[in-house]
Amino acid sequence: MADRAPERTIEALLLEARRFDPPEAFRRQAVLQDPRVYDQAAKDPEGFWASYARELHWFSPWERVLDWTLPYAKWFPGGRTNIAYNALDRHLAARRTKAAIIWEGEPGDERVLTYGDLHREVCKFANVLKRLGVRTGDRVAIYLPMIPELPIAMLACARIGAPHTVVFGGFSAESLRDRMNDAKAKVLVTADGGWRRGKVLPLKRNCDEAVEGAPSVEHVVVVRRAGDAIKIDMREGRDLWWHRLMAEAPLANEAEPLESEHLLYILYTSGTTGKPKGIVHTTGGYMVGTYATTKWVFDLKDEDVFWCTADIGWVTGHSYIVYGPLLNGATEVMYEGTPDFPDKDRFWAIIEKYRVNVLYTAPTAIRTFMKWGPEFPARHDLSSLRLLGTVGEPINPEAWIWYYEHIGKKRCPVVDTWWQTETGMILISPLPGLTTLKPGSATRPLPGIAAEVVNERGQAVGAKEGGYLVLTRPWPAMLRGIYGDPERYQDQYWSRFPNMYFTGDGAKRDEEGYFWLLGRVDDVINVAGHRIGTYEVESALVDHPSVAEAAVIGIEHDVKGQAIAAFVTLKEGNKPGGDAVDTLKQHVVKKIGALARPEQILFTSELPKTRSGKIMRRLLRDIAEGRVLGDTTTLADPTVVEALKTRYEEEAGS
Ligand code: WTA
Repeated sequence: MADRAPERTIEALLLEARRFDPPEAFRRQAVLQDPRVYDQAAKDPEGFWASYARELHWFSPWERVLDWTLPYAKWFPGGRTNIAYNALDRHLAARRTKAAIIWEGEPGDERVLTYGDLHREVCKFANVLKRLGVRTGDRVAIYLPMIPELPIAMLACARIGAPHTVVFGGFSAESLRDRMNDAKAKVLVTADGGWRRGKVLPLKRNCDEAVEGAPSVEHVVVVRRAGDAIKIDMREGRDLWWHRLMAEAPLANEAEPLESEHLLYILYTSGTTGKPKGIVHTTGGYMVGTYATTKWVFDLKDEDVFWCTADIGWVTGHSYIVYGPLLNGATEVMYEGTPDFPDKDRFWAIIEKYRVNVLYTAPTAIRTFMKWGPEFPARHDLSSLRLLGTVGEPINPEAWIWYYEHIGKKRCPVVDTWWQTETGMILISPLPGLTTLKPGSATRPLPGIAAEVVNERGQAVGAKEGGYLVLTRPWPAMLRGIYGDPERYQDQYWSRFPNMYFTGDGAKRDEEGYFWLLGRVDDVINVAGHRIGTYEVESALVDHPSVAEAAVIGIEHDVKGQAIAAFVTLKEGNKPGGDAVDTLKQHVVKKIGALARPEQILFTSELPKTRSGKIMRRLLRDIAEGRVLGDTTTLADPTVVEALKTRYEEEAGS
C-alpha cells in the first residue's frame, strides 16, 4: 500500500460545526420517516433486504437470502428474475403511458420515451441481438454517447442475459480495445458520433481502430446520431446500422428468467496496480440494492422528475440512471452534452424546462458552477427542486453550502452519497427525511450496511482518529469479483484486513458516529470524480519512445479535486525543450483518453528512489504541493530530491 496521506485534513473538517435538520415539510412526506429502520435492519439484515426483494418480480422464489463464504456472496440463490423485466414489464399495467426517460440532446433536440415506448424498443433490440447470434452469457460492449439507445441497449442485454460492458465515450480506442479483449465481447454497439460542446466525438472511428485488435468482436451496430456532421466508413458484413436492424426486428420478446447470480455487467475501473479491472455485478442482489437505495436516498415518488447528471459510462449512471430509477417506475431526465453549452446555464435551463424535483450531481460540477458565479442559476426558476445529491469525491463544506444556498435556496436537503463501482449501490448517505446534515460529511451507513474505521492492524479507532474505511457485512449489490482474476479480487479487497472489505478510502468518525471521507489512501487519483490509477498514466508515459521513467501523483486542484502531475526522465539523446510537454500529454490522451491528460509534466534527470529502487511518491507530492520535505533518510541519493524541489519551484514561479 502506498505511502499516501489522505488529502483532506481532519483538523479542518472538525471545525465544521453547521447542522441542518430535515425541513418539517420534507420530513412529513419522506419515504423513510421512522428512525427505527436502522435498528430493524441491523437486527435482521437478511430479513430486511428480503422485504425489499419481495416488492419486485421473481419468476421463481429464492431458497435463501444470502450464502456468504468470504469473499464470495450469493444473494437470493435459487431465485430466478430479470432486472429488465422489473424495470419495464412490471410497470406496464400502471405506467405504460408515463414518461420513463425525458431526453435532451446537446443541440436541443428532444425525445420522450414512456414506459411503453422503452419496453418496445428494448424488446426489439433484444431481438436484434439474438439475430446477431448473441446468447445468454455472451458479452456485449457498448460505446455510446448519452442518447436513449444507451439504456435501451443495456436493458436489451439484461433482458436476454447477455452481460454488458459499457465503455465511457471519452476513453480512447486503445482503452476500448483493452476492455473488449478482457471481456471477449462478441458485439459492439456504438454511434457514428456524439455531440460535445458543438463538436462531434468520432466514436465510430475510434471503434474501427479498436476492433482491429479485438478479434472476438463479430459485429458493430452503429446508431446514426451525428449524421452528416461526420463521415464514417461502414465495413461490409461487420458493421450494421441500428435503425435498419430495428426496422426489421419483431416486437415480441420474453424476458429470460435468469438465476439471481447471473452476470449482469462488467464495468472497468482503475485500481492500484496493473490494467483497469473488470468489476463484476450480478442480477438479483444488485437489483434489490439499487431499487431500495434509489427509493430511500432520493425519496422518489411517482410524480417526481429525477435527474442524475452522470454519464452512463460510470457506475453512477448504471445504478442511478438506468437501473435504480427505472426499477422504481420513475420519470427521469437524461442529457447528452456539457453544462456550458451553448451557455453556462444549461443545467438550470433543463431543470426549469422539465420541472426537475431531484438533482444528483458531482462536487467537481458544483465547484465549476461556483467559479462561473450565481448569476447563471439565478436566470432560471429552480423552485421545482426539493432534494439535491452529490457523489464521486469528498465535497468540501464551501461547495456544499453553495449548492444548498444557490441551487436549493435553503429549502432542499443535500445528500452526500459515498459509494464505489465495487459497491454497486450507495452505502453511506443521509436519509433526507431523517438525518441531520453536516456539510462535508456523508453522515451514516444506510440501514443494513455495516461500516467501520480501522487502524493499520484492523482495529476500530476512536472518534476523531483517522483510519481506513472498511465494510464488515456483505450487502446485496456488492461486486462478485474481478472478471477473470479471482486472485486480484481476494488480494485487493479482502486481504489487507481479515474478514473485512477494504475500500481504499481514508475516513474518520466524529463523536456522533458521522463518517467524514478523507480521499483515497492508495495510488488511485480522483480527477473530477473520475478514478485513474497512477500506474496507468505512468505506463502510458513510458510507452512513448522518448521516456525512460515516469512517476505520477495526484495534486490538489480547486475545481477537479485532484489533477495529475507527472515527473518524467527522458532517454539518452532526448531533450525536454520544445513541445516535449505537449507531445507527452497528447500521448497519454491517445493511450487512455482526455480524462487522463496530465495537468503538469516536469522533466528531471533522476527520480527520488529508496535504496531498493522504489520511487518515493510521497516526496514528489511534498514537492508538488509546496510542503516541507518529509523524511528523506531512506533515499539512495538525498540530493536528487533537493535538486528537484528547486527546479519545481523555479518552473512553478516562471
Ligand atoms: C470516492 C463512484 C467522498 C471514493 C460512485 C471512492 C467519495 C471512489 C464519495 C469511488 C463521497 C465517491 N465522498 N468520496 N460522497 N463518493 N467517492 O468507483 O474515494 O468511480 O472510493 O464510484 O470515489 O469512485 P467510483
